[in-house]
Amino acid sequence: MNPRWAIREASLRFCHKAGKSALPHSIGLLMKIKFSPVSLPRSGPLVLFAATGGKLSGLAAKVNEKSDGYVANAIKAAKFEANREQTMDLLVPSNGQLRRMVVAGLGDPAKLQPRDLEYVGGTVCGALQSGKITDAVILADFSGLNAISDGEAAALVAAGMRLRQYQFSRYKSPKSDDKTAVKAATVLTSDTASAQRLYHKFEAVAEGVHLARDLVNEPANVLTPAEFAKRVGEVSKLGVKVDVLRPKDMKKLGMGALLGVAQGSTNEPRLVVMQWMGGNRSERPIAFVGKGVTFDTGGISMKPASGMEDMKGDMGGAACVSGLLRALAARKAKVNAVGIIGLVENMPSGAAQRPGDVVRSMSGKTIAVLNTDAEGRLILADALWYAQKRFKPKVIIDLATLTGAILIALGKEHAGLFSNNDELAGRISQAGVDTGERVWRMPLAAEYDRLIDSDIADVKNIGGRNAGAITAAQFLQRFVNDTPWAHLDVAGTAMDSNRTPINQSWGSGWGVRLLNKLVADHYET
Ligand code: BES
Ligand code: MN
Ligand code: ZN
Repeated sequence: MNPRWAIREASLRFCHKAGKSALPHSIGLLMKIKFSPVSLPRSGPLVLFAATGGKLSGLAAKVNEKSDGYVANAIKAAKFEANREQTMDLLVPSNGQLRRMVVAGLGDPAKLQPRDLEYVGGTVCGALQSGKITDAVILADFSGLNAISDGEAAALVAAGMRLRQYQFSRYKSPKSDDKTAVKAATVLTSDTASAQRLYHKFEAVAEGVHLARDLVNEPANVLTPAEFAKRVGEVSKLGVKVDVLRPKDMKKLGMGALLGVAQGSTNEPRLVVMQWMGGNRSERPIAFVGKGVTFDTGGISMKPASGMEDMKGDMGGAACVSGLLRALAARKAKVNAVGIIGLVENMPSGAAQRPGDVVRSMSGKTIAVLNTDAEGRLILADALWYAQKRFKPKVIIDLATLTGAILIALGKEHAGLFSNNDELAGRISQAGVDTGERVWRMPLAAEYDRLIDSDIADVKNIGGRNAGAITAAQFLQRFVNDTPWAHLDVAGTAMDSNRTPINQSWGSGWGVRLLNKLVADHYET
């Protein structure tokens, strides 16, 4: 046996005994961010910003003067346009020494939205990483910003760096990536106090995103339902109440739909309930429900081999809910929020459910399981019902890597949004535009609903070839009472999604920033 693996296995066993996660679980790598007042830095690597056309202002212009116009000359010589997401690496001679600089493009400062500044920070972090710069001074001394204060701009850039810095390198040996990771940044700003205060909140959200990414990236042999529940348990340190329901509890509650999916696997299911009660005592909570299929083989209706490995990410909805609750708790959001995640492995075996089986859900409705690969909706049927019965939420939002059909419809640019409530749908859409985690509303209608009528049960779990993402949503709606509800189909965005300046990871953590923004804008007291 490779000795490295021997060591790893030994530590695995040790950690289990200690009651900890099987492997060290940190929320991303460390990154020390410090905010300091604006003054000409003596040392270096420097990051300075240029506006469209390579325009330098404020401290950046002073640095240019000090270097006898070298920076401006280089910008000109390289025809650097300073658009957003562009950077230029410079070696600047000064007093006989070479100093490193990165010039990052801002585009038109007046057009920068908060999200753009996060992306600028992400781009900077990426440039530092590829330049092997682990410690830098960032001249976040912008001029010409519109409606974003200096302190907020600096904090947003820092937050973007923190988001981008994430790497899933746990299983790489040696951990070469760690050597190039940005470890520290000093961000110069005219308003250090508000930058610091805001960054504290943004960092809480970034760490929620990192938790979600870690969970999605983790392979299914490690991240079983029980291990997932254990990791969510660690969030209780931040004041989140975490209850874990086991199979016998779920049997008592009559969760036949969820248990039917689980019955083919030797890894037992869990239902995890997280509560962050940061709002008024009397206020009904907002509920977030997540699909957590730790691996989806399809069951007896098995998926083809090619690409099946991606189905370790079929818990992206549950990961988002976990990361969101972590973020809300860490930033002490004034909201009552509950997170409910159904954790199940969908496997074929002698004990697995068969196509044609009829199961009884917690709601009392019976379901004909015509395809065991349409398992997410079965889990959510019970999780949604449980959420409504136990918490009487004022709003309920579920997230699920539910259908391949949503990828066909929307690709990876938007998640599918389905809702029984226009106001809620509008709020989520706006939060999507604001955060860059965009959604596109899809229809619900009685005509689609008819497609899932069953001749032997109350409902069937597939609706045929057409409108696959919609019939899946119609199925979920059968388990929602008149609570304002939204369903996000995140099959195209939670895993293997488009890489952005603030995310280079397979597991994107999609939805944490979106729903955090939704809560901040509409549900905090
Ligand atoms: N987990 C899959 C959906 C999925 C597909 C997620 C691709 C991420 C990427 C889901 O459980 C599933 O298998 N859905 C089926 C439903 C069908 C059997 C009605 C699908 O989309 O093919
Ligand atoms: Mn499936
Ligand atoms: Zn699935």
